[in-house]
Amino acid sequence: MDNTKPIGLFDSGIGGTTICKEVNLLLPYENTIYLADSKNAPYGQRTKEQIIALSIKNIDYLISQHCKLIIVACNTATTNAISELRAKYSLPIIGIEPAVKPATILTKTAVIGVLATKGTLTSELFSNTVKKYSDIVIVEQIGYDLVKLIEEGKINDPEMDYLLQQYLEPMVIKGMDTLVLGCTHYPYLISKIKKLIPEHINIIDSGAAVAKHTRKVLEENNLLNTGKTIGKRLFYTNKEVEILRLFVEDKSSVHYLDF
Ligand code: DGL
Repeated sequence: MDNTKPIGLFDSGIGGTTICKEVNLLLPYENTIYLADSKNAPYGQRTKEQIIALSIKNIDYLISQHCKLIIVACNTATTNAISELRAKYSLPIIGIEPAVKPATILTKTAVIGVLATKGTLTSELFSNTVKKYSDIVIVEQIGYDLVKLIEEGKINDPEMDYLLQQYLEPMVIKGMDTLVLGCTHYPYLISKIKKLIPEHINIIDSGAAVAKHTRKVLEENNLLNTGKTIGKRLFYTNKEVEILRLFVEDKSSVHYLDF
């Protein structure tokens, strides 16, 4: 495989841009193609079968664009579909799931919180992860409607603050000292979250870890782009271009695509 081929990323919407930014930062010479399947967001309320079918549709498009590696930049798609996707495709596929292990290392109160979608928290993969840490209290909270509001461009609506407070307060009361952001949309809420929880609580988002893992997998597969020109970055959405542009620095790299 030609190592100048792009890395393909997809998410149910704009959330995975938080991962894409970390990848672009760590691997500046890589070309990237990002798909925001906003027309079908949120994935978090969908069935496992629907999430697998949507993920296949996204990957098939990225493969048609000759991507050399896929990043499933969505916790919900990873936790519900990654094994089916790896069984179907031969190219390397990297996923993202809530960073429970790092949180269990960091916590001093032995109480960690995981804020994620319903699809992630009810997945078999996530429940198997939780079972490994029986000595830690894991407070799970579904972030109902957070993705929906972000996708509608309503991050700063009072409703967002209200919902965050409803979700976070009980977690704080239960003694959480480490909060895992288990959805790639949520890093866009960090400044709001910080205002609602005590300062000592660590917030874990796994974007940088995914970028590092991507570099390792590229190296292992001889796929690292050895060129020295900044990569071409393309962002596609099948819904509103203007909303995706709010989250991407180079507005001219964002286009509408009916996929
Ligand atoms: N960014 C997706 C995730 O990480 C959001 C899923 C959704 O669309 O509900 O889970």
